[in-house]
Formats: sequence, structure tokens, C-alpha cells
Amino acid sequence: MIAITRRRLLGTGAFAASGLAIPGALRAAVDSTEGRPSLKDLARRKGIKFGTAVAAPQVLEPTDFTDLVEREVALIVPENEMKWFEMSPAQGVVNYELPDRMVDFAQAEGIVFRGHCLVWYWRTPWWFQKLPTRAEAEAALIDRVRSMTLRYAGRIDTWDVVNEAVEPKDGRADGLREAVFLKVLGPGYIDLAYHHARECDPKAALVYNDYDIEYDTPEHEAKRTAVLRFLERMKHDGVPLDRFGVQGHLTVGKMPFSETKFRRFLADVAGLGLHIMVTELDVTDELAPGDIPRRDQLVADEYSRFLAVALDEKAVDTLIPWGLSDRYSWIVRHEHAKEKWRTDGLDGRPLPFDAALQPKPAWTAIAHALDGAPSRS
Ligand code: G3I
Repeated sequence: MIAITRRRLLGTGAFAASGLAIPGALRAAVDSTEGRPSLKDLARRKGIKFGTAVAAPQVLEPTDFTDLVEREVALIVPENEMKWFEMSPAQGVVNYELPDRMVDFAQAEGIVFRGHCLVWYWRTPWWFQKLPTRAEAEAALIDRVRSMTLRYAGRIDTWDVVNEAVEPKDGRADGLREAVFLKVLGPGYIDLAYHHARECDPKAALVYNDYDIEYDTPEHEAKRTAVLRFLERMKHDGVPLDRFGVQGHLTVGKMPFSETKFRRFLADVAGLGLHIMVTELDVTDELAPGDIPRRDQLVADEYSRFLAVALDEKAVDTLIPWGLSDRYSWIVRHEHAKEKWRTDGLDGRPLPFDAALQPKPAWTAIAHALDGAPSRS
């Protein structure tokens, strides 16, 4: 491996000049912390914000992982700590300790904070689902949105206000998901949440975030169509919405990918005047062989193929893998659907850094995609 120092590499101008393909030396230096540029720097040079999802224990105590986070990212988003279910075990009880400490950590480190997520059917507190009247449910929803956006006003860069509200499989003409909030409050819960969020924190950009819109399958095409109509309706009705989040939970070798269809979808969303964020990027490898070099390359190739299209759309200005290291991934913790678990008992390897915090081919794929992206400035 070429032993080069970061200074020497940058001094050669081989990397300093913007827009150059990553020089061969950098590829070889990927394993050497010194010679490797950070993903946040590669992103920043193109006007892109690079961040990651983290959990409180990963950042609230100084560890080797905290060092990596501080080096690599310009943004963090709490993986679970700001979810309603996690914060409010009983009606009238709200635990702000971990969200407060994570926001404080980010502020102290000069890292941008992304709020996730105010209203998500999947992590709604049990007590909400037992509220006896519509009026009490509406009051509880409004209190959730207002209390969170007021408490962190001015300190949140973007808020996922409503998460994953669209599900065309549920057969509604408006494409909305038949879940708790729709059942109890009707479709109006969406606009209600965004208007209250805007009123309480006018500085935060408001985001709608969704998944299963990345691949060339009938289901994903239907979801893209429904999401686009959902966004169009919100913009038409003057609902305060600034950004759209493409989650980007990808899988090796499972579904075809159409560059044309995905590119068109992003262009259609951008055409609504929305900025776009890749909010939860990771690549599961349950269908890939167990051999690690082979598997890592297949994961890297999946990142490359997706990002070549995503980052080519200048409205996409934020890139957030759902974790930095395989050491901390919901995939490795098996918190995802069982059909996506590996059957050979090996841990998945979905993220840019391995469990020892060493960069993987996925890191190079992301670095290359950032380095080759058109500048947003
Ligand atoms: O904290 C408890 C722990 O006390 C308990 O021992 C353990 C075993 O039961 O569960 C732990 O809670 C888990 C939590 O993650 C923290 O690890 C929940 O069971 C588990 O369901 C939860 O999964 C999270 C999932 O959202 C549901 O909230 C994943 O970590 C998280 O990565 C995932 O992230 C979501 C995004 O927020 C929205 N988009 C989809 C994405 C993947 O589902």
C-alpha cells in the first residue's frame, strides 16, 4: 500500500483540484486514515451535506467511533431517540434526556442536527392508540409536534415531520397508508402536523421521508407515482413542505434498477421546487455470497449504481447512510424483516466502514460518487 500522508496527497493537487477522479494513490490510501479524505469534505466540495444516523450510546461517550463520526460527518440524525414511541412510554410522560444530549453533542461539535421523526405510524405510543376520542387524539398529535419543534427550535436543520404515510397497496385513491393516524384523524393529520411544525420552528426545513421508491419493480413504480401525487397535493394546497427524503434502503441482487425511471422520478420531485435528501442509505447483502471481498464489492457496486443517478440530480443535496459502520447497523442487529436476514449466519456488511472502523469498498464507492458529482454551488 502506498504510504502517503494526507498533506502530501493534498499537496500534490491530485486531490485538491475539484472534479478530478479519485487518483489511484487515494484508492490505495483508503486504508490509511492519514491519506484518506473524509466523506464530509468530499461532499462539501460539491455543496452536498454528508451525515449519518447514530444512537446515543455511540456518540455520548468519547470512543473510537465518536472520533470517526467527528471526522467523517457534517450531520447526524438520531436513529431512534426522537421517535414518539421511544420518548413517551405513557400519556403525559416525555423523556427528553437523550434527544437533549444528542442535540447538545452535535452543537458542541459543530455538526448539523436532523430531527427524525415527529409522526410515524410504526413507532406510535401504545397509549395514543387507546385514546377514547378523536379530539383527544388530535390534541395529542398537535402536542407531540408542537412540543418537539418548540423545544429544539433553531437547532434542527431538517425535521421529518410525517414519515412513510404513503402506501398504494392499501388501495386508497389518495395512496395514503391505512394506519393509526389516518384511521383516527383522517387525511388531515398530515397538513396539521406540517403547519404546526412550521409555526413552531420556522427555521427548520420540513421533510417528507419514504422508502421503496428506488428500484424498477411494479411496487416501487406504484409507490413513486403515489408519493409524487402526495407531494404535488401538498404543494398545491400550500402545506409547508421543503424537502423530500429518499430513504435508500437497498439490497444486492434482488431487484432491477432503472436509471431512467429513478432519474425521472427525482427530476419530477425537484420540479415541485423541493430539495431532495438521501436519508437512510444502506445495502443489505443477504443474497450475496459469504466471501467477504466478493460481498463487499457487490455492496459497493449497489451504492455506486444508485448514487451515480441520485447525486447527478442537483436537487439532491444531502447524503446520509443509515449508520457509518457495520458495528452499529440495524441490519446487523436483525431489526429488519426476517426475509432480509442472511441464512448462513454471517453478519451483514451494509455500511461504508467495517466493525473495526476500517473503510470498505462501499466507502470508495461513496467517495467516488461524491467526487464525481456535479457541484451544487
Ligand atoms: O431499546 C430496545 C431494547 O431495550 C430491547 O432489549 C431490544 C430488544 O427488544 O429492542 C430495543 O429497541 C429496538 C430499537 O430499534 C433500538 O435498537 C426495537 O426493538 C427495534 O424495533 C428498533 O428498530 C428501529 C426501527 O427503525 C424501528 O424504530 C431501528 O433501529 C432503526 O434503524 C429503524 O429505522 C427506521 C427509520 O427510523 C425510518 N425508516 C425505516 C428505518 C428502518 O426501519
